[in-house]
Amino acid sequence: MRKKIVAGNWKMNKTLQEGVALATELKNILAAEKPNCEVIIGTPFIHLATLSEMLKDSVIAVSAENCANKESGAYTGEVSAAMVKSTGAEYVILGHSERREYYNETPEILKEKVDLALANGLKVIFCIGESLAQREANEQEAVCKAELQGSVFHLTAEQWKNIVIAYEPIWAIGTGKTATAEQAEEIHAFIRKCVADVYGAQAADDTSILYGGSCKASNAPELFSKPDIDGGLIGGASLKAPDFKGIIDAWK
Ligand code: 13P
Repeated sequence: MRKKIVAGNWKMNKTLQEGVALATELKNILAAEKPNCEVIIGTPFIHLATLSEMLKDSVIAVSAENCANKESGAYTGEVSAAMVKSTGAEYVILGHSERREYYNETPEILKEKVDLALANGLKVIFCIGESLAQREANEQEAVCKAELQGSVFHLTAEQWKNIVIAYEPIWAIGTGKTATAEQAEEIHAFIRKCVADVYGAQAADDTSILYGGSCKASNAPELFSKPDIDGGLIGGASLKAPDFKGIIDAWK
């Protein structure tokens, strides 16, 4: 059975102190009322060690938002998968469209990152999704399939068990423009079929596929009611505990 997941992606927000305050608030809220899904928070590197320690007995798992495509050595400013793992973080978000676009992360670079993350015992939330121009040209399926083929479909069936997919249409990220539940379901079902073609029906059925892009408490229940939408990867609405909790509650 695949997991239902609500994951936050803080992006480049929150100082260490602000992050600790937000995580504390969330921890207390979720201790008082157990979630019906796995809850993950993706944070900047600087928060990882502190939050992993703080949240180790809670229901909240911690994720990095990136890791290096090199193992170690003279790469000033980079943070390796082994370093992320050593903080106690369980996950890493890779392939986010912001990393692809602003930091020129190619499918080949992402493949190296995925391999290193898995080799170091991290689980990967791998993001895919089309731009507005690609959606208007009806290329969303081809784009998603190519992104999977380019960076994760080389994995073994055993490695695949540590992959979560996040479908994030770029035109819906931070724009307030959500994909309709029908649009999202259609492509999620397609993505699951792509996974089935490579890893078989059972593995596809066990794969969690999250939706991301202007997901909030008001639209999460409809999105999550679809058979192939297993939760969300949340940007803006993960920055305030009540907003994030509202999305987690969509699984109730
Ligand atoms: P928003 O929820 O702010 O649209 O961001 C989505 C996202 O990019 C999550 O990774």
